Amino acid sequence: MRIDVVTIFPGYLAPLREALLGRAIEAGLVEVAVHDLRDWTHDVHQAVDDAPYGGGPGMVMKPQVWGEALDAVLAADERPARLVVPTPAGRPFRQSTAQAWAGEQRLVFACGRYEGIDQRVVDEAAARMPVDEVSIGDYVLVGGEVAVLVMVEAVARLLPGVLGNPVSAEQDSFSDGLLEGPAYTRPLTWRGLSVPEVLRSGHHGAIARWRRDRALERTADRRPDLLAALPADALDAADRAF
Ligand code: ADE
Repeated sequence: MRIDVVTIFPGYLAPLREALLGRAIEAGLVEVAVHDLRDWTHDVHQAVDDAPYGGGPGMVMKPQVWGEALDAVLAADERPARLVVPTPAGRPFRQSTAQAWAGEQRLVFACGRYEGIDQRVVDEAAARMPVDEVSIGDYVLVGGEVAVLVMVEAVARLLPGVLGNPVSAEQDSFSDGLLEGPAYTRPLTWRGLSVPEVLRSGHHGAIARWRRDRALERTADRRPDLLAALPADALDAADRAF
């Protein structure tokens, strides 16, 4: 997969080259290119924003600069791209979004700052390629850069070969619609607290049942909205008895 990020703060994206993603880049599983939006300005001040039509506070990012930047970035590789624009006004980014995007050949992220990007940039791009305006949560960040770090990490760990153990991704919280339950490792007793007996029983059926019950319990407690949203056939008789 190729990932392009266009931003006025390229340094913000430096963590993309760390840890898991850094190794994935080195292994050739993901290609990442970060571009400075100001490279496509033509004035001495390298202005990327202007006052909003209709008045109001803040500034809006200029369409000419974004248009040239996206044209150039898209032309740099022939793989078909999906454009992602992080914005608090977007559709929610979910695990299912990450799974769908993991199947793409190319993702291009356009990081807006200030009050956003002139809407015509998104509308014009949407005539040429799939475009998603997405939010990573119901809070407002200063710009899209941190949201891109979040989304790229969520997508990259799903790519074949990126995680050491692919079963980890399959057992994620959310992949079955439930939160994951608690996990334990050695020592058996720590500060007077013991690991639940069933996990040491070697009885795989009992362990699976215990884990499922803890996942149901935790989801009911912390995210009742997720339980309510499960499809009718997601819970079996034993789940319902719980
Ligand atoms: N930009 C500012 N806030 C954001 C959010 N919550 N999600 C995505 N992009 C953003």
